[in-house]
Order: sequence, then structure tokens, then C-alpha cells
Amino acid sequence: MPDHALEFSARAGSVIPFKTDCLIVPVPGKLPLPAAAAAVDAALGGQISALVTAGDFTGALGAALMLHQPAGLAASRLLLIGTGKEPPMPRDVLNLIAAAARAVLGTPAKSAALLVTDLLGEREPTTFARQAARLFCEAGYKYRPGDDNGKRGKLARLTLVCEERSQVRTLTRGLELGAAIGKGINSARRLGDLPGNVCTPGYLAEQARELGKRHPGVSVRVLDEKQMAKLKMGALLSVTAGTVQPAYLIALEYRGAAAQAPVVLVGKGITFDSGGISLKPGAKMDEMKYDMCGAASVLGVMEAVAAAALPVHLVCLIPTVENLPSGTATKPGDVVTSMSGKTIEILNTDAEGRLILCDALTYAARYKPAVVIDIATLTGACVVALGKQASGLFSPNDTLAAELLAAGEASGDRAWRLPLWKEYDEQLKSNFADIANIGGPEAGSITAGCFLARFTRDYTWAHLDIAGTAWNSGPKGATGRPIPLLMEYLLGRIDAAGNA
Ligand code: BES
Ligand code: MN
Ligand code: ZN
Repeated sequence: MPDHALEFSARAGSVIPFKTDCLIVPVPGKLPLPAAAAAVDAALGGQISALVTAGDFTGALGAALMLHQPAGLAASRLLLIGTGKEPPMPRDVLNLIAAAARAVLGTPAKSAALLVTDLLGEREPTTFARQAARLFCEAGYKYRPGDDNGKRGKLARLTLVCEERSQVRTLTRGLELGAAIGKGINSARRLGDLPGNVCTPGYLAEQARELGKRHPGVSVRVLDEKQMAKLKMGALLSVTAGTVQPAYLIALEYRGAAAQAPVVLVGKGITFDSGGISLKPGAKMDEMKYDMCGAASVLGVMEAVAAAALPVHLVCLIPTVENLPSGTATKPGDVVTSMSGKTIEILNTDAEGRLILCDALTYAARYKPAVVIDIATLTGACVVALGKQASGLFSPNDTLAAELLAAGEASGDRAWRLPLWKEYDEQLKSNFADIANIGGPEAGSITAGCFLARFTRDYTWAHLDIAGTAWNSGPKGATGRPIPLLMEYLLGRIDAAGNA
């Protein structure tokens, strides 16, 4: 696969004589300028402070002003990026780096340098560099048919320029990690953006196998329908009854810390969700090609973890199916038996995600997991509740929930917790089976979570509903969320294990 990924590096010293196509300088909305920006201002004969005083550059968070051939600097462009009136909060820093990345990528600059001294402050250089690299990778993504590595803009190299030599190594480690995460995010976005006639369950299985080839530390197993029938995965198999595309359960395992019980990630891989016999309305049905974004996100996490050789034991499970109506499709009222032995009355064939997930979640117990997290574009109700800002988080475990919320906050990839009270679970009662696959019109995201909870009693579990966060509708495009959250969570676990 051709790899034109961005290259990252860090160096210490003055930016004034540094040759680059674009020097990026964070500038606040009021004077006096912080030390490093002030040094650049002095070299420019006070041009930056003059722009701030005149109000031509407001310094508002993320505001961008590009100057050409700045006299006094070796750089051929100078990009001022606003940091706001107050010292930027962690989330602001993410937003201003993203804004800088977008501005640079809109120019023909092949190289850029970001002056990090004023932003670093008390911040941990590794974390800062990781986020910067990740955000620059993300900003460089463009979907191109037939191109595995579509790229926006010309930027090939980003250098972080700091003051102290001692910071170069930590910044560099952060950049490496961030580049790996960025790569994982962009491959997940590409999988999401691919049309449903290309990205089929078989295609996802092939991508998983290729990932295994690229990273010898990752072992890949693909279970076919026959093997799933042997395992009695009647819920998963009921969803594939209407399509000619074969369904698979993909299992990837990476033993970066083999002695530890694994973290198991389960990603919903519906490569197209028509609703089945409970057919969806036509408007925006094309967006149901994104119904495999949970699967794409766990593949992206696996890619990042393997590329960065992180010391974790990680398992990714991907149940992948196409949900179509036909003469052989499952019908409302049908009762199926899941791998757990529980019978399910399928009242709506459009509530198919939970049907494939429940069998994958039962299968997950084999790994004796430390924790299981499933990631799914599960309910339209979650988009109504939380919009595009936060993924829905569901877990009976307060500690795990708190860790995931914190990871979301730190990475700018937020989640918000919703309850799994037994009063909601009661909405899933069926006259004809152990459980119904829908819980009526109220609290649809929560009853979906309650459904999954019934299959996850034997281990520590959380569910992320990414229906609102996995893609944008205008312009349409996959986001790669919640990979930033999941990576932050995994890195936090590694830190905790190292410090213990
Ligand atoms: N994949 C959809 C959920 C979805 C809908 C995600 C819209 C993003 C945007 C899921 O399979 C689904 O159809 N859920 C149903 C559940 C209902 C039948 C209980 C829904 O949300 O309408
Ligand atoms: Mn559906
Ligand atoms: Zn679906």
C-alpha cells in the first residue's frame, strides 16, 4: 500500500531562522504576547502586536491569519492562530490545533512548523504532541475512490518547535503515537465512507486479514456462517437471512501484554442497514452504509495499537452482516435463539445491531476479558438525545464509566452517560420469548443498552452508541470517532499498569 503519511518531528531552538513553508504561531487576543510569540513579533518589527492592537487579528480561538513572505523570518508563510482572550483550556488547544491544521492544509505548503512553547505551559509534552499529530493527520484526510490513502493538501512534514532540548524526546514519542492514532482514524473513516457495494462483510474480513499481514503481532480469525451456526449464533444469523452477502465474525488479537486479561472491543459491522422487512424510509437511507462504523473504529484502534507496539492485550470482535429484506429474510414476530440460549422475539427487523452484538458479546466471554466495550451505531434515538456532540455511554460499572468519560473529555471525543435502570429493562418483556428486540418508542437508546446488558452480566462492560458521532451529514463523511476516546482509555490503562 503506498504510504504518503505525514512526517512529524520535534526540535528545540529559535523559529526565527527556521526554514519552513509555513510557521504557525499561536497568538492570544490581547497584549502582551507570551514569550515565544513576542520573540517572533520582535523579529517582525512588531507586526503581530500591531495587528492585535488594530483589531485586524482578534485572536479569537481558532481564528487564522496568513501572512506571506514575513520579513525577518526564514519561513515563507506565517500563520497566526488565535488562542482566545483567556489561557486556552485543554479542549480549546485541541480546537486551535485543528483550526491551524485546516488552514495550513488549504495552502500549497509542503512543510510547516508549529511553535509550541507558549501552548505547552504546564501541559505534558507527550500528550500535547500526540494530539497535535493526530489532529494534523485527521485534517489531511480526503476520501478518494480507489485510493487507500486519499490525502487533502500538500503538507508532508510538520515540525514542533520547542524551547528546551529536554522536551524533544517526549514530544517525539507523542508524535509517533499520534501519527499511529491518526492513521487508524483515517483508515476507519475510509472504511466508513466506502459505498456499501464495496465495503461488504467479506471486504471487512479481507481488510482484517490484511491488517494481520501488515502487523505480525496481530492474529486474525474469520468465522463463517457454518462455524457461527455450530456456535448456535441464532440471533446474528437471523439478520443475514435476507441477503446473499455472507456474514462473518472477525476476531483479531494482539498480545502486547500477554500476561494480562484482554480488553475486548466489539464493533457493530452492518455494512448496509435497509431495516430489513421493517424497511426504513427512503430519506437518507444511503447513510446506512455507515452502519459499520463501530467495526471500522475497532479496526482503527487495532491498527494504531499494533503500529505503536503498545503494551496491551487487545481483542477486537467484529460481527459483520448486511441487513436486507427478501423472501428469505427474518420477519417481525419471528423468534430466534441466541448463542446464550436466550430466545428473542424479533418485533422489528430494523433493531438488528443488538442481534448481531448479543452473540458477539456472548462469544467475548471466551477471552476471560478484563473489560468488554462494544461500539455501535445503534439507535436513531441517540442522535435525538445527544446530537453530534457526544456518544452515548452505557455501563453498569461506575468506575469504567468514569474512565471512559474522562478519556472522552481528554481527547475531545466526548461521551455522555445514560442510565440502565431495571425499570427501562422491563420495556423489553415479550409474551413469546425471553426478551423482545425492541422496547417501544420511549428511551430507545436506553432500552437498546438494556438489551445488550442482558448478555454481558459475566464481565465488566460498557456500550458506546456512536449513531450521532460516527459520521457527519453535511458534507457527508466518517469522523473516526470514538477512536480518540478509546485510544486515550487504553493509554490510561497502560499508564496505570506501569505505575502500579
Ligand atoms: N443503524 C440504525 C441506527 C441509526 C439510525 C443510526 C439512524 C444512525 C442514524 C439501527 O439499526 C436502527 O435501525 N435502529 C432503530 C431501532 C428501532 C427499530 C428500535 C432506530 O433507531 O430506529
Ligand atoms: Mn437498523
Ligand atoms: Zn443498524
